[in-house]
Amino acid sequence: MKIGVLGTGMVGTTIGSKLVALGHEVKLGSRTADNPKAVQWVAAAGGRASTGTFAESARHGEIVFNCTNGGASLDALAAAGADALADKVLVDLANPLDFSRGAPPTLFVGNDDSLGERIQRAFPRTRVVKTLNTVNCNVMVDPGRVPGPHTVFVSGNDPGAKATVIELLRGGFGHGDVIDLGDITTARGTEAWLHLWLRLWGVLRTPDFGIQVVRSRA
Ligand SMILES: NC(=O)c1ccc[n+]([C@@H]2O[C@H](COP(=O)([O-])OP(=O)(O)OC[C@H]3O[C@@H](n4cnc5c(N)ncnc54)[C@H](OP(=O)(O)O)[C@@H]3O)[C@@H](O)[C@H]2O)c1
Repeated sequence: MKIGVLGTGMVGTTIGSKLVALGHEVKLGSRTADNPKAVQWVAAAGGRASTGTFAESARHGEIVFNCTNGGASLDALAAAGADALADKVLVDLANPLDFSRGAPPTLFVGNDDSLGERIQRAFPRTRVVKTLNTVNCNVMVDPGRVPGPHTVFVSGNDPGAKATVIELLRGGFGHGDVIDLGDITTARGTEAWLHLWLRLWGVLRTPDFGIQVVRSRA
């Protein structure tokens, strides 16, 4: 499958490499087609990897991943273009972190709104699915780094889009426990988890951890 990955940071390159390893043709998108990190990633990832602008990456992808800085995601997606994203599944991994007042960061949206919802409102023809934002990027693509069962979530308005993403999470990335939380407003909860994720990272001194949702037998 042709997949567009918007973002040249550690998330975009990690997701991109995993998708290439799964056999997909991945175009990593950036503000500039010759972004040095993207060029370096293509050299390492091999023949099914390419780079381009956000717009070129979005046009290339049958599915598109948003792995851009949360504060810049709407601008990056606008550069990708509403037409290029129309009718496509947009897998949104971004978190609305605001580092302007130092660490730990705050969330620039929350409580009664979320970045996932802002993206869905700005791109109504696109089928946004928020997922994987609750774990570090290495755990996103290799859940076995964390021993034992742990859970990731999907939030989105389109059942078909969520089914596509769940198949990729389970069959491609190897996530055994995926909970469909409901519509895109449920992204408020997974984005708010960042408050706790960041503090756990400080205490545990490793980013390799996850959420285990434990159910009663009844
Ligand atoms: N780190 C993790 O493990 C992790 C886990 C869960 C979720 N997340 C979320 O995943 C996203 C990506 O994180 P990251 O650390 O890999 O990368 P990042 O540094 O947060 O974002 C890098 C990307 O954002 C783009 N960008 C930055 N400013 C921009 C602007 N003004 N306009 C348009 N695009 C802009 C960059 O474009 P250029 O390519 O042009 O430089 C680059 O592609 C974030 O939203 C983060 O919160 C991260």
